[in-house]
Amino acid sequence: MPSVAMAKILFWELLGAKSQPRKTEPDLVMDDPDKVAAYTKAGRVDGVMAPVYLHHCAHISEVICPGDRVIDLACGPATQLAMVAQFHPSCQFTGVDLSEQMLGRAEAHVADLGLVNVDFVRSDISKLQAFEDNSVDAVYSTVALHHLPDVVALKRTFSEVARVLKPGGGVYLVDFGHLKSQQTIDYFAYQYADRQAELFTLDYLYSLEAAFGKNDFESAVAESLSEYAKLYSSFLVPYNVAIKSERRAEFDPELKQKLVKLRSALPACHKRDISDLVFSFAMSGMRTKLL
Ligand SMILES: C[S@@+](CC[C@H](N)C(=O)[O-])C[C@H]1O[C@@H](n2cnc3c(N)ncnc32)[C@H](O)[C@@H]1O
Repeated sequence: MPSVAMAKILFWELLGAKSQPRKTEPDLVMDDPDKVAAYTKAGRVDGVMAPVYLHHCAHISEVICPGDRVIDLACGPATQLAMVAQFHPSCQFTGVDLSEQMLGRAEAHVADLGLVNVDFVRSDISKLQAFEDNSVDAVYSTVALHHLPDVVALKRTFSEVARVLKPGGGVYLVDFGHLKSQQTIDYFAYQYADRQAELFTLDYLYSLEAAFGKNDFESAVAESLSEYAKLYSSFLVPYNVAIKSERRAEFDPELKQKLVKLRSALPACHKRDISDLVFSFAMSGMRTKLL
């Protein structure tokens, strides 16, 4: 992030007026075909989400082990899921989402890539009836929890994660954190407006406005997940929040090589984005050996 922008954000967030309230997402379940298309495109082939997915792929890879049964909560079009599943062919993945449109995209993507270790379940992530107690090895979720209507649903989701996980299971739940100032929200939402569909920019704006506060995540973790994972947030301003378990996987030098290669192939602006993510989480103690 350019340092002038960083200075402005610190000013708005640390010295600015009192915090904006959270605004619930206008589309909790993403079923509008045009919005689903715009979101899907942003994640594929050099879209603005590419560095985000790569960053999260490294962290997810540290909490899953060969042969694991893994759930992706609110998997959307399965861009993240397919990336992780390709790197971990011995694991069995289930993507969970409530949107028919998203699941249609997800199934097509996985079929296009010829992946045989992924299936999907249409379900609410706060009611995981499709999964038995202590039946999965790891659960992850990327940029989706802000779609839950309220803190009660967030807490119910975390309690479902704890219910379905086996003892010692892996967790990586990452999402935006609530920003205090509308100026910061607008800065992030519109920074790439010239290179992405307007619908995606608006989707991003609504996502930032709907993000839960770091304190909401802290209380949800304290209620259900503290034995599995710790909470981290990006440095100084909790723009991103992650809940991650201790590393469960052996360090895999081949996987590192592949991820580093993907990182070095990103266009310059996306390289900057992934560096910001790596740096801001590392400063709060969440590090990966894979990037
Ligand atoms: C912003 S997308 C994130 C998708 C994906 N995790 C990714 O990283 O690209 C949010 C997804 O959450 C889904 N969703 C929203 N509320 C849900 C719920 N209660 N249960 C299951 N899925 C939900 C939406 O349909 C949408 O696909």
